[in-house]
Amino acid sequence: MKPSFTKPESEAKIADMFNRIAGNYDLLNKLLSCRQDQRWRRAMVAMIPRQPHLKLLDVATGTSDVMIEAHRQLGDTAELHGSDISTEMLSLGRKKLDDRKIQNSKLSLMSAENLIFDDKSFHVLTISFGLRNVVNKDKALAEFSRVLKPNGRLYILEFFVPEKGLFAQLFQFYFHKVLPVIGGFFSDKNAYTYLPKSVASSYSIATLTDIMANKGLKIGTIKNFIFGSCKIVEAIKV
Ligand SMILES: C[S@@+](CC[C@H](N)C(=O)[O-])C[C@H]1O[C@@H](n2cnc3c(N)ncnc32)[C@H](O)[C@@H]1O
Repeated sequence: MKPSFTKPESEAKIADMFNRIAGNYDLLNKLLSCRQDQRWRRAMVAMIPRQPHLKLLDVATGTSDVMIEAHRQLGDTAELHGSDISTEMLSLGRKKLDDRKIQNSKLSLMSAENLIFDDKSFHVLTISFGLRNVVNKDKALAEFSRVLKPNGRLYILEFFVPEKGLFAQLFQFYFHKVLPVIGGFFSDKNAYTYLPKSVASSYSIATLTDIMANKGLKIGTIKNFIFGSCKIVEAIKV
C-alpha cells in the first residue's frame, strides 16, 4: 500500500505541520540520525570565519540547536538572531536558550521569504534542514543575499538526493522506507513521509549553484556526509 502523502503547498500548512511535530522533534532528530545531526551542525558552525562581534542569522531555526552551537563556539560577543514560521518550534527554542542562559540571542516569527532586516545586516546566515521546506526557495535565497554583508557567508546544511553507489542506495532505502515508519510511530506519519519527498523535490547542487550565482552568492567549500546525502554548502556574498 502506498503511504498517504500530501505535500503542504502553503507556508501556513508547513507551519502547522511543524507546530504538530515540535514536541517530539529533538528526540526524533537524534533517533533518526543516530545523533549525527548535532555533529553536522557542529561542523557547519566550525566553518564560520571567526571575527569579533559577529552578527549571525539562523533562518528556520526550529528549536535553536544551531544558535546553541553558535553560542558554544563563538561565545558571548556574537549577536545571534533566529527566525522561524512555527510558533511551537520557536517557543521550545526560546526555552532551550533560556535554560542555557544564552542572552545574546533573539528569536522572531518570520518567513525566510520576507526577512525584516536591513540590507547588509549580517556577517553570517545559516539554515539547517530548512531550505527544502521553504515554498519559494528562489525568493528566500534572494533575501539571504540581501541581508548578508559583502564577503558575508551563507551556510546551508541540507539533505540532497545522494550520488550513486551501494551505500547511497542503502541510505535511500532507510530514508524512504524506514524513517517514515519510525517517525510515524513516535510522531506524525504524514510529516515523516514528507521528509524524504521534500528532499526528492528539492534543488540539486548544480541548480542551487546556478540560482545562487544569479543572486550574487558564489559557492565556496562543500562538505559531504553519508555519501553526499547530507551536505554543508558554503556560499560567499560577492
Ligand atoms: C526540519 S526543521 C529544522 C530546524 C532546525 N534548523 C534544525 O536544524 O533542527 C525545519 C524548520 O523550518 C521552518 N520553516 C519552514 N518553512 C519556513 C520558512 N518559509 N521560513 C522560516 N522557517 C521555515 C519550520 O517551521 C521548521 O522549524
